[in-house]
Amino acid sequence: MCFRYRAQPSMAEKQSAFTELKLSQRFRSGTSLQDAVVVITGASSGLGKECAQVFHSAGARLVLCGRDGSRLEQVIEELVSGPQTQGKQTHTPKKVVFDLADTNAVHKAALDILACYGHVDVLINNAGISYRGNILDTHLSVQRSVMETNYFGPVALTQALLPSMVQRRSGHIVVISSVQGKVAIPYRSAYTASKHATQAYFDCLRAEIDQHRIPVTVISPGYIKTNISINAVTGDGSKHGVLDKTTASGWEPRDVALAVLRAVSLKSKDVVLAGPVPTLAVYLRTLWPALFFKIMSSRARKEQKNTHKNE
Ligand SMILES: NC(=O)c1ccc[n+]([C@@H]2O[C@H](COP(=O)([O-])OP(=O)(O)OC[C@H]3O[C@@H](n4cnc5c(N)ncnc54)[C@H](OP(=O)(O)O)[C@@H]3O)[C@@H](O)[C@H]2O)c1
Repeated sequence: MCFRYRAQPSMAEKQSAFTELKLSQRFRSGTSLQDAVVVITGASSGLGKECAQVFHSAGARLVLCGRDGSRLEQVIEELVSGPQTQGKQTHTPKKVVFDLADTNAVHKAALDILACYGHVDVLINNAGISYRGNILDTHLSVQRSVMETNYFGPVALTQALLPSMVQRRSGHIVVISSVQGKVAIPYRSAYTASKHATQAYFDCLRAEIDQHRIPVTVISPGYIKTNISINAVTGDGSKHGVLDKTTASGWEPRDVALAVLRAVSLKSKDVVLAGPVPTLAVYLRTLWPALFFKIMSSRARKEQKNTHKNE
């Protein structure tokens, strides 16, 4: 009989094995996006379009969603004719056209999405609409319509796709919220309320589906340089139509999209993508609410004065 002696690994060897394991796990989670079925809502512009670009380059099989089929088609053409990423096999994205604010359309869309590849690995709830207005002058119908798109839309789509993820014990739910899902800013009531509701719903979902091994990632960016303020609705439902200074000086959408890719790869739970001031505001709201409310009241007064000056 032959006994083979195996020396106990040293501390350094243990540490290096641990680092290697971590790296290989990260590598595996990175490469797992190759051929992964990734659904992106609001893929026709802004952050959604950039997410389509980075996930396509990572080799994902994309299902792009939006209300305008021809704009989605244009995004697909750009992706297919763009430069190929070395070492990655890319796929021609598919599209599903529907209005997130229409619950019946969302149910039908979920079936169409599942029909593309039979399952979904990552759902990125990105589509959204912003709002600018004074609560006193805002129709209740506007408060409701922003909630339909930003809250009930992602909730309906998530709930329609979730059973197939639970059945496969595999999948990943991502939602693009906002720093305004954590702190409320004056003259943004409909938007910030919809994002607070989003944060709360997906926090509950994370806890409830953890037992099925389905991660939930909530991403809360600060300002991003997109058309969001131009597309925002006002108190009477008309378009704001202005590229706000804050939006124009925001983060590059590509940088945010890369951070989304990283958060998906690492299965992060809650990510704030913002500079020091908004991040401080998030802490202030919890730790020193009285000061936070004072600052917000002063901001509201200043904004009101500026509005009157510009009238
Ligand atoms: N930009 C920012 O400063 C900022 C900051 C924090 C968070 N965010 C969040 O980032 C996400 C993306 O916004 P963005 O900045 O990229 O704005 P965007 O350029 O205006 O893009 C919004 C996307 O949502 C889609 N969409 C809007 N209403 C829809 C509906 N009813 N049904 C289906 N799709 C709809 C639009 O597609 P169609 O019009 O073609 O349907 C468009 O592709 C949003 O959730 C937003 O709240 C943005």
